[in-house]
Amino acid sequence: MSAVQAPKGTYDLLPEDAERRDRIVTAAAAVFVAHGYHRMVTPEFEETALFERGVGEATDIVRKEMYTFPDRGGRSLTLRPEGTAPICRAYVEHGLHKWPQPVKLWYYCPMFRYEKPQAGRYREHYQLGAEALGSASPMVDAEIIAMLAELYAELGLGPLRLLVNSMGDAACRPAYVELLREYLRGRRPELCGECAERIDTNPLRTFDCKVAACRQVLDEAPRIVDHLCPDCRSHFDAVLALLRGVGLQPELDFRLVRGLDYYTRTTFEFQSASLGPTQNAVGGGGRYDGLVAQLGGPPTPGMGFGSGLERVTLVMQQPLQVSAAPLAYVVALTEEARGQAFLLAQRLRHEGLGAELDLAGRSPKGQLKQVARSGARAAVLVGLPEAPSGTVRLRDPQGGAERDVPEEALAAELRALADGIPA
Ligand code: HAM
Repeated sequence: MSAVQAPKGTYDLLPEDAERRDRIVTAAAAVFVAHGYHRMVTPEFEETALFERGVGEATDIVRKEMYTFPDRGGRSLTLRPEGTAPICRAYVEHGLHKWPQPVKLWYYCPMFRYEKPQAGRYREHYQLGAEALGSASPMVDAEIIAMLAELYAELGLGPLRLLVNSMGDAACRPAYVELLREYLRGRRPELCGECAERIDTNPLRTFDCKVAACRQVLDEAPRIVDHLCPDCRSHFDAVLALLRGVGLQPELDFRLVRGLDYYTRTTFEFQSASLGPTQNAVGGGGRYDGLVAQLGGPPTPGMGFGSGLERVTLVMQQPLQVSAAPLAYVVALTEEARGQAFLLAQRLRHEGLGAELDLAGRSPKGQLKQVARSGARAAVLVGLPEAPSGTVRLRDPQGGAERDVPEEALAAELRALADGIPA
């Protein structure tokens, strides 16, 4: 019988990589908390309508990538493909607009998208994200972008470019979209079928197209930054000035419409050349001042980002050092001593000290081999016939030096060892 494998586009994290992942999330949490963001958890699946309304019917995510299924009660549910719409839903559902604004939230969770799997692109990927709801200040945009830059610097990511754009708002975007539509109509024969279709449904999405001919047509298209209303222009200028003020170097990219329909004003991405041409974004996001209202809430501005953990790991220059080695390995030298070894290991763990022992019936020699293999800093030998009662033997697995220690003093000795204090 052939063995069952993980579904295409998903992966397992074996312990060392899982521990590395935890370290990244812990570092991220510290950065987010220092900026006043609080952890938020939303369900793994939502009603399909949330994403159709929030992310947009014309986007690739909604058209081609969602894992949508009827549940046994006949409701249409969708595995979360992105984190912003759920956060906005929860903001409305729990009346968070009554909290002091802005409400600043962060999350870490899996996202599901039926994409073509390749390095850095999965059908289940994990995102770190943050959202600030309830302030239209350009300082929020700059705070979010600078916070992500700080996290990437702390994790030692390789060289990154920061690309930014403005998508305008309800005041200036409709006129721009019409202008773009007119322009694209004139060049329709040069466009791929999908882009030709998008002229009528959502012409901004043509900027996402990777087909060379379409890209050329869009190179010559009118650019939204040249058609911003005064409010959007001054917002964008303020964001750029704040970013430069904290030492970042934003580069303008007129193509950066990003694959979700909710963006207004600022969009941004951190890109790395080492990820390859088609999925080079380590993280990205933007402002979505209309989304909460679109989901039935009060008019509420918002700004946020999402960053894929897999891509962060790919771009880290040095993998994080993790050690799974226990502090102590308790060795039972006789069959009768196994019970004592078990109790001793439990006692040490209870004191917060990492302890291992043999659970596979190995001989004393086999257990001593395991001590070396485990990387434990100390071997604790129990069941020595010549040792005074109430004592155990503490051995340095590296140098072999050993001495007898009263059982009551063992925890203190091991703690000193862990802290690097010589005996
Ligand atoms: P997004 O650009 O679709 O934005 O995804 C954010 C990040 O998730 C990407 O930059 C990338 O690092 C990672 N990512 C996306 N898809 C995949 C995939 N298939 N495999 C691996 N990594 C992937 C959003 O999802 C928005 N919710 C971000 C946002 C938050 N905007 C405002 N607030």
